[in-house]
Amino acid sequence: MAAKTLTIDDHLVSARPGETLLEAIREAGIVIPTLCHLDGLSDVGACRLCLVEIEGQRRLQPACMTMVSEGMVVRTSTPRLQAYRRQIVELLFAERNHVCAVCVASGNCELQRLAVMVGMEHVRYDYLSPDCPVDISHPRFGIDHNRCVLCTRCVRACDEIEGVHTWDVAGRGVQARVITDMNQPWGTSTTCTSCGKCQLACPTGAIFPRGVTVGERPHASERIALIVEARKQRW
Ligand code: SF4
Ligand code: SF4
Ligand code: FES
Repeated sequence: MAAKTLTIDDHLVSARPGETLLEAIREAGIVIPTLCHLDGLSDVGACRLCLVEIEGQRRLQPACMTMVSEGMVVRTSTPRLQAYRRQIVELLFAERNHVCAVCVASGNCELQRLAVMVGMEHVRYDYLSPDCPVDISHPRFGIDHNRCVLCTRCVRACDEIEGVHTWDVAGRGVQARVITDMNQPWGTSTTCTSCGKCQLACPTGAIFPRGVTVGERPHASERIALIVEARKQRW
């Protein structure tokens, strides 16, 4: 099939048919923020950080969920987009208790990096400060719901890469939480294989390995894509 030609930030770009706009943007060397997207996992368009403007469309579109098409004219960094992105990151910080100073992922956290990227200096919203539990019933890992941004990367990694679907999401709005099996302590899960892929996929300090100091905490979410690639080559 013929390549698609589109314009991204005034540059003519070629893209493969079936490619997402996010892939085309990245291949063009342009950096836009993402949070729920993780190479190797399916996309769900949940965080809205990758929103872009497409000429002729009034609504902003998430680049990770939009396919390239011939003649598309895209803008990735207008003042309107920058304002929305900063607002989204501020709302994420306001929704739970992201106190970076006492977080196992500080200095190694995608949310923290995003805050710097979008120029967040303070949060303009009231903190909801919900009382979220910490579950350390699993012998190898823990989950601190205070740090969870509901990106569902753990849910997709466990389902799509490990194939057991231990994680899911229960509740709505501010009550939404990731849960294991039938909303029971993680340590009592009968499906979890303790593979650690959910922890690799997690962008924040929400899922953490037990018995590891802050500085030692591995944060290598790109390993999910490497696993997918290695499997493709073997099978
Ligand atoms: S450790 Fe592996 S099997 Fe257990 S919840 Fe995480 S991804 Fe799923
Ligand atoms: S636990 Fe981590 S990976 Fe799972 S939804 Fe929360 S932030 Fe995302
Ligand atoms: S990365 Fe596209 S909506 Fe989250």
